[in-house]
Amino acid sequence: MKINVPFIDLKRFEPGFHAALMEKFHAMTINAQFIGGAEVAALESRLQSDLQVAHAVSCANGTDALQLALRAVGVGEGDVVLVPNVTFWATFEAVVNVGAKPVTIDADITDGGVDFAAFELAIREASPKAAIIAHLYGWGSARLQDLRDLCKKHAVCLIEDGAQSYGAEFAGEPICKGAFISTTSFYPAKVLGGAGDGGAVFTDDAALADKVRRLGNHGRTAHYGYGDVGWNSRLDSLQAAFLNLSIGHIEERLASRRKAVAFYRDALPSTGIELMSAPAAYTENGYCNVCLVPDADTKLALESALKAAEIGFANIYPGVMSSQPGAAAYIKGHFGGQVGERLCASVLNLPLFPYMTDEELQRVASVVRATLAGGDHGK
Ligand SMILES: Cc1ncc(COP(=O)(O)O)c(C=O)c1O
Repeated sequence: MKINVPFIDLKRFEPGFHAALMEKFHAMTINAQFIGGAEVAALESRLQSDLQVAHAVSCANGTDALQLALRAVGVGEGDVVLVPNVTFWATFEAVVNVGAKPVTIDADITDGGVDFAAFELAIREASPKAAIIAHLYGWGSARLQDLRDLCKKHAVCLIEDGAQSYGAEFAGEPICKGAFISTTSFYPAKVLGGAGDGGAVFTDDAALADKVRRLGNHGRTAHYGYGDVGWNSRLDSLQAAFLNLSIGHIEERLASRRKAVAFYRDALPSTGIELMSAPAAYTENGYCNVCLVPDADTKLALESALKAAEIGFANIYPGVMSSQPGAAAYIKGHFGGQVGERLCASVLNLPLFPYMTDEELQRVASVVRATLAGGDHGK
């Protein structure tokens, strides 16, 4: 059967979701509950208990979450910050926006995280004040504990960008548990997605959490008293209400994503496609599917077959940070080789979102299978 499959469909909600949302919005609007209040407090406390962190501070988006974390740990003008060369641009951008200098670290092609040896060398030679690692694709680095230990030993503040890792587990615990400071994004396409932008910062350190909260609310110490120069990065109450309803369904959504992951893991290798896997210590959240197609001809053939079959796909990400035109004026150095470039050239992401049907999954696999069986691809 020919059915179109979008890369992501954000419109598949649980029965009753919209009615509950309308009821909440109605009550909140009538009562003019727009900033802060019970919904924001409830979201933060649910995040704290689900993610097993002492403090969760909501904010306007995942990019602000990184900037708040950087500012809170004291990164500012001229400080060096290590960043992965393969990540979303916001990770790099946040460093520049707080006046610091980004140094890129090459990728590890086995897990999509940073190359540990390059990271270690950069800690010794670039004298960073902080480092950001990004838990891409729904899991983290195989060397996560080593990265945390190394940063602690060298007094480098490690910020973990968890925009893509909500719901992922490391050694049986939420991935952000045990992080010095970590962040997430509630961008609609994320695992816990909002009805717009949102983000949060997590830490076990009370003073750091206070600082994040203050910076995200104009540096306020009183309504008209300012202890810092911050900005307005508050999460709206209506957004928090949407997220509170969504978080109530998070286990079903994670289970559905993981079911799709399991389908692909079963079906794709027989087509000749290599899948990137989460390292052994992780339970992935099913954020995205990552096929590694090292040969450019096969990748082109797959992309055009998917396009013709009206099946969505992506390349997360097509290029490294260090080669972006916007990076040139700010980048302070690079450690490691060019594995990141190879990773970017190889990645092809197939559709993956909650409540994908069996028919949709079968359709994707059959188009991939037919394409690779049709030529001399997939050898
Ligand atoms: C790894 C990573 N970091 C940061 C961000 C930025 O989050 P936001 O779009 O909420 O600003 C995103 C998502 O868009 C992301 O995937």
